[in-house]
This record gives sequence, C-alpha cells and structure tokens, in this order.
Amino acid sequence: MTLTSSSLPTTTAPRPELDVYLPQQDTQLLIDTLRSRGVAGARVLDLCTGSGAIAIAAARAGATEVTAVDASAEAVAYARQAAAEAGVRIEVAHGDLRRHRGRYDVVTCNPPYVPTPPESEAALHPAGPSHAWDAGLDGRAVLDPLCAHVPDLLVPGGTLVLVHSEFADEEASLRALRAGGLTAEVVAERVIPFGPVLSARAGWMEEIGMLERNRRIERLVAIVAVAPGESGPAGGSA
Ligand SMILES: C[S@@+](CC[C@H](N)C(=O)[O-])C[C@H]1O[C@@H](n2cnc3c(N)ncnc32)[C@H](O)[C@@H]1O
Repeated sequence: MTLTSSSLPTTTAPRPELDVYLPQQDTQLLIDTLRSRGVAGARVLDLCTGSGAIAIAAARAGATEVTAVDASAEAVAYARQAAAEAGVRIEVAHGDLRRHRGRYDVVTCNPPYVPTPPESEAALHPAGPSHAWDAGLDGRAVLDPLCAHVPDLLVPGGTLVLVHSEFADEEASLRALRAGGLTAEVVAERVIPFGPVLSARAGWMEEIGMLERNRRIERLVAIVAVAPGESGPAGGSA
C-alpha cells in the first residue's frame, strides 16, 4: 500500500488491483455536504469508510472524535495508514456496520449501492473491490440495514449524512429513515457519467427496466436525516 500524500485525493482513477474503494464523486458529494453543514466539535462515525477519506475530512473540519468502520480488513489497514499520514486521530474499527454500537453527533455513510445481477456473469462484474459497490438486485442490501440501525447510533438531534445513487431508490431511504423517527430529505444532487461498474451493467439494467435506453448518466443524492431532540454540533433541521 502506498499513500503518496497527507491529503487523500477525492476523485481518483479506480485501481482494480487494489481492494479498497478510492475516493470518487460520491465521496466528494458527501464531504461537500458535511462541510456545508459544519462538523466542528462533533463526535463523528464514518460507516463504510473505505480509504478513510470522509473520516479524514471530518477530522480536518474540526470534529473532536472520529470513529471509522469498514467490513474489509484491507480498507481498515488503508484507512489507518491514511489517517496517520494525514496527521489526524481516527479510531478505525473492523466490522459490520449492523453490529456497531455507540451514540454520535454525526454519522456519515457512502455505502455499496450499485444494483447487482444475481448470476456472476463476468462481463457484468468488472475487476475491483466489489464489496464496495455490489448491493443486491435493488441496490439496497446495505442501505436497508443501515437506515434501520442509524437511529440507534445518533444522539438526540444528531445527524446522518448519506450518499447514494438514484438507482438505489432515494425514496426508500427517506421512508425508512422517517419510519425510524428521523426527519429526512435530499439536500444535494450531482449528475455524473456512468463509471466502469454501471457501464458494465447498463445493458442488464435496461433489460430489467431500471434504466432508460441509452441513458448513461446517474444522479447521486446526498440525504440528511436528523434525530428528534435538541440539536448537537452539525445538527439542525433537515
Ligand atoms: C462505496 S465504498 C465507500 C468508501 C468511502 N467511504 C468513500 O466514500 O470513498 C463502500 C465501503 O463499504 C464497505 N462495506 C460494505 N458492506 C459493509 C458493511 N456491512 N459494514 C461495514 N462496511 C461495509 C466496503 O468494504 C467499502 O469499503
């Protein structure tokens, strides 16, 4: 593993040989949303941390404590080294987000959300860290448990900042978060061209009616959800 600078880039060419998701446009959208809301003085939990880019951005923006979690041992090792090189203190834990416990002012998450065909046809599965994007037929294999668990991770008035693609159904995320007692809304969007994984799956998505013929752009959404109670740092109404 080689990290070349103390500042992780936020849009990086995919490196299929590396089993870690390097920062992309979704990462950047989450960081921009986090910065626009402010995180100074907050205790932050970054779920699905990957390279640690979001956790590092939170620490640099003045979070008092940052914890990061990932199910991939390689991502955990990468994020620990990235934090050390960036000169910020981050507790990086190896584990499934569903089993993480604790209460935080701010929870961030850029989960796997790419709709994934059931059979493993090689052409639909480009090389790279598939654990970072494969998310079941509807793209919600990680989003659904995340939305169900996040109310148990927030202090009163605490905030979730979540990013995913339109193809994983933002209305389903909003409904699930509201069902958990949070206020929730889409606060930012970004339209980007398909990357390698969606490009590989575009034909399949057209066949199942998930994608209009020949459309090759996706809309990323940033969702902010706020727990009931008095606002903590970076809290406020969604
Ligand atoms: C899209 S990447 C995001 C990486 C980074 N946060 C970013 O925005 O660049 C998703 C990450 O989620 C991790 N992951 C997948 N399922 C998980 C789970 N159930 N619990 C914790 N981490 C998980 C993957 O290993 C991967 O590192």
